[in-house]
Amino acid sequence: FEPPLAVNEPIYDYAPGTECKDELKQAIRILKSTEVDVPMFIDGKEVRTGNKISMHPPYEHAYTLGHFHMGDKSHVESAIDAALAARKEWGSLPWQDRAAIFLKAADLIAGPYRARMNAATMLCQSKNAYQSEIDAVCELIDFLRFNVQFMTELYAGQPESAEGVWNRLEYRPLEGFVFAITPFNFTAIAGNLCAAPAMMGNTVVWKPAESQVYSAALIMEIFMEAGLPDGVINMILVDGPVAGDVVFSHKEFAGLHFTGSTGVFQHLWKTIGNNISNYKSYPRIVGETGGKDFVVAHNSAHPDEVATALARGAFEFQGQKCSAASRAYVPASIWDKVWEKLASQVKSFKMGSPEDFTNFINAVIDEKSFDKISGYIENVKKSDDAEIIIGGGCDKSKGYFIEPTIIRAKNPRTVTMCEEIFGPVLTIYVYEDDQFEEILKICDETSPYALTGSILAKDRNVINYATKALENSAGNFYINDKPTGAVVGQQPFGGGRASGTNDKAGSILNLYRWVSPRTIKETF
Ligand code: SER
Repeated sequence: FEPPLAVNEPIYDYAPGTECKDELKQAIRILKSTEVDVPMFIDGKEVRTGNKISMHPPYEHAYTLGHFHMGDKSHVESAIDAALAARKEWGSLPWQDRAAIFLKAADLIAGPYRARMNAATMLCQSKNAYQSEIDAVCELIDFLRFNVQFMTELYAGQPESAEGVWNRLEYRPLEGFVFAITPFNFTAIAGNLCAAPAMMGNTVVWKPAESQVYSAALIMEIFMEAGLPDGVINMILVDGPVAGDVVFSHKEFAGLHFTGSTGVFQHLWKTIGNNISNYKSYPRIVGETGGKDFVVAHNSAHPDEVATALARGAFEFQGQKCSAASRAYVPASIWDKVWEKLASQVKSFKMGSPEDFTNFINAVIDEKSFDKISGYIENVKKSDDAEIIIGGGCDKSKGYFIEPTIIRAKNPRTVTMCEEIFGPVLTIYVYEDDQFEEILKICDETSPYALTGSILAKDRNVINYATKALENSAGNFYINDKPTGAVVGQQPFGGGRASGTNDKAGSILNLYRWVSPRTIKETF
């Protein structure tokens, strides 16, 4: 029985006076009148340790949302035991039974949980209503529904058989448990990183980022309400190194599904490498890491389109997207026009709490991010290589606020053109029009990453040339658009080089990593 074909969930726009806006405001009020208490979820049970860590909105230190319960090594062990105990039954269920649970979860998010998911993501992760709707509701639903569709396509893939023989591929889950480590910046990515392996019959130990634990707990509630059996996904709230010590030394560790920093991912890969002879199988390692995403404009581009691609690509969700535009190359002949439009757009962005729906820019996630981003900005203030042309203000007295900041580089290899900052900071290099080919080479060489990038041009030959010249510079390449906002089912997402293993989240390519096929040949 085939499930219904997936379609992208329509996005609520939260325009003033709409019913959806009133529902969301009500969900925010309820959330603020509750002392949030986030447990771990192990073997289908809520686990509270009493070791409570307080949670504050990134935009308001003085307000306490509630707390989560921090676990230790013993909780990692119980989560692995639960995952291994649930594995056999879950892995041998007909795939339709597994799919139905995730389709029901998608419907729960689209309906009764929609406003709560948004409220949780807005308050805990400091996303504005629209950005939260795109992420915690629509993208998460799309991951679930499209992956069910891709799963059916995957299982349908069977080899040829000659007469008297029947060859078949049995798509078994991996032999062991999968460890999902998920980031703060996308609730959808967090949900998908544990759901995709689970859909394919695996059981999972999930460690969400500390700053995303409330929406993570809601995802667990939704999965359980949808009928997910005990032990299939186990959410632990434990320090990374403590969890890593237990997970990576376990014989039945079978796969890592990771989104986070390049440094952490490389460290985990080395740890796995050091233990490789102790595992039952070679673990699958799937990771999406950093980015230094670019926009290259050509002088045939329309200046207004360049300005909009930069303003939206760089500053939505405070630039805390691995896909965010963080360096741009603009030709001198159109720079004045681009700048006029870009500056006016950026100046119009209001900054403040996401509870005021008119604020476009909210706080960055935490003190560590604030210090890192403001450190880059302070260094530019002292540098001869670059200057701040808009923004540059950083204030952590009330919340972690950083103004949208644009730096103009005198040197296309200055540090903020090369290193990932992960905040609302865009560096622009204005090049002489006849340097275009050289700029493409510099763009390709100056960063170790290859996640997303855009070319803006009207001239078709230029588009073709840039697409070829930058063929390894980005796993998601955009022509005449911003480099962010990949839609599940439309633009499979992921990059190469230091940006990850490029196993394209939200596509059949990702699901293949979570199966261990057995080829069966039967002779009649
Ligand atoms: N998928 C998101 C985007 O394309 C980033 O994770 O912006």
